Amino acid sequence: MSDRKLGVLVHGAGWVAGEHIKAFKNNPRTRVVAISSRRLESCRARAEEAGLEGVALYTDYERALAHEGVDIVSVCTPQQHHADNVVAAAGAGKHIVIEKPVANTPAEMRAMLDAVTKAGVRTVVSFVLRWNPLFETVKALLADDAVGDVYYTEADYQHDIASWWAGYGEGRTKELGVSAALVAGCHAIDAARWFADKEAGRAAVPVEVFAYSGGWRKGREVEYDYFKNAWKPAPPLEYDDLEVALVRYSNGALSKVSTNYGCVMPYMLPVEVFGTRGTIKDNRVWSHKFPGQRGWVDIPTILPESADVSHHPFQGEMDHFVDCVLNGRESHCSLADAVLTHSVVFASLRCYETGQPVRLPLPEFL
Ligand SMILES: NC(=O)c1ccc[n+]([C@@H]2O[C@H](COP(=O)([O-])OP(=O)(O)OC[C@H]3O[C@@H](n4cnc5c(N)ncnc54)[C@H](OP(=O)(O)O)[C@@H]3O)[C@@H](O)[C@H]2O)c1
Repeated sequence: MSDRKLGVLVHGAGWVAGEHIKAFKNNPRTRVVAISSRRLESCRARAEEAGLEGVALYTDYERALAHEGVDIVSVCTPQQHHADNVVAAAGAGKHIVIEKPVANTPAEMRAMLDAVTKAGVRTVVSFVLRWNPLFETVKALLADDAVGDVYYTEADYQHDIASWWAGYGEGRTKELGVSAALVAGCHAIDAARWFADKEAGRAAVPVEVFAYSGGWRKGREVEYDYFKNAWKPAPPLEYDDLEVALVRYSNGALSKVSTNYGCVMPYMLPVEVFGTRGTIKDNRVWSHKFPGQRGWVDIPTILPESADVSHHPFQGEMDHFVDCVLNGRESHCSLADAVLTHSVVFASLRCYETGQPVRLPLPEFL
């Protein structure tokens, strides 16, 4: 392996891209060599705020992909562009970081998976909470048999996705955002899967889903701003703000996962893991490893309690991915794995139409 730094192209120069750029800049084995986006001003703004010099800026993605020395492409555009962006990057032989949600339909996911498999490139999907310190601690405790065999997990995405987010104009629409679970709740679904398998580096495989949707925000031209503790007029959501899914896995474990955009409170993503020898509720542990335990053991750590991308552990994700690329390993959070998380989202949508449980894999993946 040569000591040449891997070259990175970041595509879609908005909010999350700034964090991808920071993480690749900090990794000693990578260098951001190009940024592309719809507008050159956005590329320039991201380059300047990161203090990057000599970085190439493009508004043409194909030309950016052809820039000399690009090994990794970070796809940070809005979700409706991810499938095309990933298929093009794979066609150009690049390793790919894919922002969630990976796609707007199962057919798009199928095409992406076929393209990256054919190209033999590595992928990681930004289910970035897998690198959150609480998540890493819980996963290590599970692998250490702290709660025995996991039989039930819960995870809840509780956050008012609203007009504070630059992507809300498109993301609130049925056509481009599709559903609350797709736009944001997929983080909670991924968490529930991640903890439903006690083995390190492995998430449970969903085999059946039943879901309801409801809430109060769909069509309502008002939203709550928790920074100001105030209500204000806002363009309405075109889909339900509340989704609750029950998931059964191939290992027999079950999950309950919710996406709740209607909650009047600051961001939280609580997780609970129930095992045959103990229980974990966020950072509180009850375990057979503590004989005579009389109260919950609190672990002082960083919880997933901020929606700000600067709070998200992108450094851990990118360092992991660079290691995967350099050592020819598949990430535990690859596109193939993320398809399983997204399949719960798409199965939930089918439940709302049929009122019936949906078996997985989805027909597109049989
Ligand atoms: N993993 C996480 O925790 C996390 C957190 C936040 C967001 N995300 C995801 O990241 C993605 C981007 O979200 P964001 O919050 O960064 O959104 P954003 O701030 O709106 O940024 C999106 C960027 O993509 C550019 N863009 C839009 N259409 C384009 C096109 N057709 N071709 C090229 N560039 C285009 C925009 O263009 P210009 O500025 O050039 O006009 C903008 O800079 C979404 O999928 C979102 O769900 C993930």
